[in-house]
Amino acid sequence: MKPITLTTLRAAKQAGQKFAVITAYDASFARLMEPAGIEVILVGDSLGMVLQGHDSTLPVTVDDMAYHTACVKRAGAGCLIVADMPFASYDSTEQALHNAAVLMRAGAHMVKLEGGAWLADTVQALTRRGIPVCGHIGLTPQSVNTLGGYRVQGRAPEQAQRLREDALVLEQAGAGLLVLECVPRQLGAEITQALGTTATIGIGAGPDTDGQVLVLHDMLGLSAPVPRFVRDFMAGADSIQQALARYAAAVKSGEFPGQAHCYQ
Ligand code: KIV
Repeated sequence: MKPITLTTLRAAKQAGQKFAVITAYDASFARLMEPAGIEVILVGDSLGMVLQGHDSTLPVTVDDMAYHTACVKRAGAGCLIVADMPFASYDSTEQALHNAAVLMRAGAHMVKLEGGAWLADTVQALTRRGIPVCGHIGLTPQSVNTLGGYRVQGRAPEQAQRLREDALVLEQAGAGLLVLECVPRQLGAEITQALGTTATIGIGAGPDTDGQVLVLHDMLGLSAPVPRFVRDFMAGADSIQQALARYAAAVKSGEFPGQAHCYQ
């Protein structure tokens, strides 16, 4: 397979072809991704919960992210590797540039930041210096304490409008990809349609986004309880490799996520 790049994913968006994203944090799992048909590996700060056992992503550090990004890089050949900038690592543009460079040197092809229009200057500064950016709006887990819990976002009309505006501002600032987490299906579809080149990646955002992402441990049935947008792909599979391949195939065919995995 030719290595996946941002250009590949933009072309997929234009062609209406769905792509599959999944988290991984080490070489053993990263090695399984390209053969399973996964285009993007997200080294997510969800590792704070599924690997480290914390009750949120807030304790994760830049050093943690760099370590796991380097582990994934050694085996994730062919996939685009996106690394999360952890909590409080991009509070100023200078800090973001410094910490993003640490993650790029560790092996990331792109970094992901949680937040809306307020991040526009930072996104622009990163992309201008050769650091591609994935935005992340809707439920942003690093803000769990201001959001009052892990809740669906964008149900109220004014909140939905703010998310639409955030998406457009981030695209304008240069974000190449945009994660939409826990938003109503209709809003996920509208934002995806409204963006010209930025490909959306949904998690609990319905089937109409350009790509889908799940946390590896959730889709392998290792987490409990899980939100409604998760499907256990290990159930009925003979191997982890088969579960991953079924996930990729279900995303590409549009079979996952189904109605049961959506918010209204
Ligand atoms: O950290 C992570 O795994 C994420 C996904 C849930 C999108 O940000």
